Amino acid sequence: MSEAISISTTDKRSKYEELFSQLASLIGSETDTIANMANLCAALKDTFNFFWIGFYIVKGDQLVLGPFQGPIACTRISFGKGVCGTAWKNGETLVVPDVNAFPGHIACSSLSKSEIVVPVFCEGKVVAVLDVDSDQQAFFDEIDAQYLEKIVGLLKF
Ligand code: SME
Repeated sequence: MSEAISISTTDKRSKYEELFSQLASLIGSETDTIANMANLCAALKDTFNFFWIGFYIVKGDQLVLGPFQGPIACTRISFGKGVCGTAWKNGETLVVPDVNAFPGHIACSSLSKSEIVVPVFCEGKVVAVLDVDSDQQAFFDEIDAQYLEKIVGLLKF
């Protein structure tokens, strides 16, 4: 296994393409889901310098904080609450350009301005969500949604 992710391109789509093939080989060579979640967060944070990136894992009727990169964060989120709980409930990726305009947004950091939450599925059920926060408004778009969905699809549960 290589020791580092190496990205040579500058536009977002190409960066995701390069990252995806390296993550596929990294994750394909390890069976532990938490280890893979941790490396996935580190690789994405390194590549895009996101303010915060992390997983919340479904445990009963709550999401519980899993592997992440960035400042400390809320540890538990209830079903249907906040952006994460809503993405879990709806089973759909949510792109939030302005977190202050999202009813019920849970502010783990006042520096977070926009957010994307991508559900992770196993056998048709949401088993986790990937949450990415930016300190800039409207930072995420359809390209992020498309590739983050593809990347979390590499995880095995
Ligand atoms: N903002 C999220 C909570 C998690 S933190 O952003 C890390 C939400 O509204 O669900």
